[in-house]
Amino acid sequence: MLYVTGYLPYRHDLQLSASSHLASPLLSVGYDTVSIGKTTTLPTANHKWLTHTYKEDDFKISAYTTHERGARSLSLLAAASYTSVTCYLPAGVRMLFEVLVTVVVLVVSVRVWYLTTSGRCHSTRSMKGKTVIVTGGSAGIGLHTAEDLVRRGARVILACRNLEKAYKVAAQLKAEASQGGEVAVRLLDTSDLNSVRTFAKEILDTEKHIHVLINNAGISEPPEKVITNEGLELTMATNHFGHFLLTNLLLERLKQSAPSRIVNVSSLFHTFVSSLDLNSLNFEKEVYRRYVPYNRSKLCNVLFSLELARRLEGSGVTANSLHPGVVKTDILVAYHTIRGMIMKLVFMLWAKDSELGAQTNIYLAVSEEVEGVSGRYFTDCKQVKPSKLARDKDLAKRLWEVSEKAVKLRPEEKFC
Ligand SMILES: NC(=O)c1ccc[n+]([C@@H]2O[C@H](COP(=O)([O-])OP(=O)(O)OC[C@H]3O[C@@H](n4cnc5c(N)ncnc54)[C@H](OP(=O)(O)O)[C@@H]3O)[C@@H](O)[C@H]2O)c1
Repeated sequence: MLYVTGYLPYRHDLQLSASSHLASPLLSVGYDTVSIGKTTTLPTANHKWLTHTYKEDDFKISAYTTHERGARSLSLLAAASYTSVTCYLPAGVRMLFEVLVTVVVLVVSVRVWYLTTSGRCHSTRSMKGKTVIVTGGSAGIGLHTAEDLVRRGARVILACRNLEKAYKVAAQLKAEASQGGEVAVRLLDTSDLNSVRTFAKEILDTEKHIHVLINNAGISEPPEKVITNEGLELTMATNHFGHFLLTNLLLERLKQSAPSRIVNVSSLFHTFVSSLDLNSLNFEKEVYRRYVPYNRSKLCNVLFSLELARRLEGSGVTANSLHPGVVKTDILVAYHTIRGMIMKLVFMLWAKDSELGAQTNIYLAVSEEVEGVSGRYFTDCKQVKPSKLARDKDLAKRLWEVSEKAVKLRPEEKFC
């Protein structure tokens, strides 16, 4: 026997459902009509008991009222053995409940989808004896990339702008290290060309080998246009120019360490760029719009890899770029804007976690499958086609020349 009583506001709908046998529901209701099941609609006189017997397993009872006295009380008596009744809720609450259920279902589905379809690096290759540099290894995708490589026995250099944060991460990674993995921390601000030069010098002075360089550090969407001391727009400087200079400065050592690999972390957002004016990479000729520089810098990452691969042909050094997926990190929420908050919520619910987001970085750094593969673009540990613009070899060549000038690459710093 089940007894449910509820309060039904004037003109609001009521829906009740149960999942098992329900016999003889007794509905006491002051409403004009009550329908039970999919097919039956029973007119009821106000304030009268309704008795109905039926045998459907799944059913719905809905009632509404136009009664002038407004809100009425409703009770349902059911003599049966069954599991549950989804009790009626006022319309607003019910709608909220339905939205919540929908969100939960979507979140769970997307999570299951990510877990089952996201690419994973299945290589078990040891990285013992290999030296790897990860820029921006103090957080997000970079951190999880570094963690995996340390576990494989590599000597990993975290190239970071925030030393305090990086040392904490290094301590955590060292604690997890097995197979003789090592972690070192070096100061690098990719937005500052002097910092890049200092970092590169330190590396060349101390490291005999560089087997993998992962250009991962990145920022997105500063709300205001910021121009660095070297006259470069901040996002472009951080994401493209800094890594362009760094790679060039380390190239000789990478060549000496061949076979070696360069991994440039780009983004699917590069596809949103429809044209690239090489004379206005730093907004020299156009108004700053905060969504533009990130996409542009990510296009430059792919074009840079393309031209670099061409220049490195036969050297034993490969260069590839990638999209890590939509990953739950702090990259879009570094700026406390309304959009940032919304993105944070969306990321929290739907994005991959960083461990999964690091898989393509790891794949390109270690996998035997991409031995000798160069100038390609990957996502989910698979080679895919980047945008048409990102495949433009002539544009890639011209971007290289413009970038050389922008970072003031000296003749003695050119190794390809
Ligand atoms: N998350 C995504 O959905 C997504 C999608 C596509 C591509 N990506 C790319 O993935 C890469 C990693 O991003 P993430 O999502 O892991 O973001 P994140 O969690 O914000 O990590 C970015 C890292 O870059 C570092 N960094 C930022 N500016 C730097 C600078 N000037 N010099 C040195 N390091 C700097 C950060 O250092 P601090 O710790 O000091 O801030 C941090 O370690 C980026 O290149 C991004 O464009 C991300």
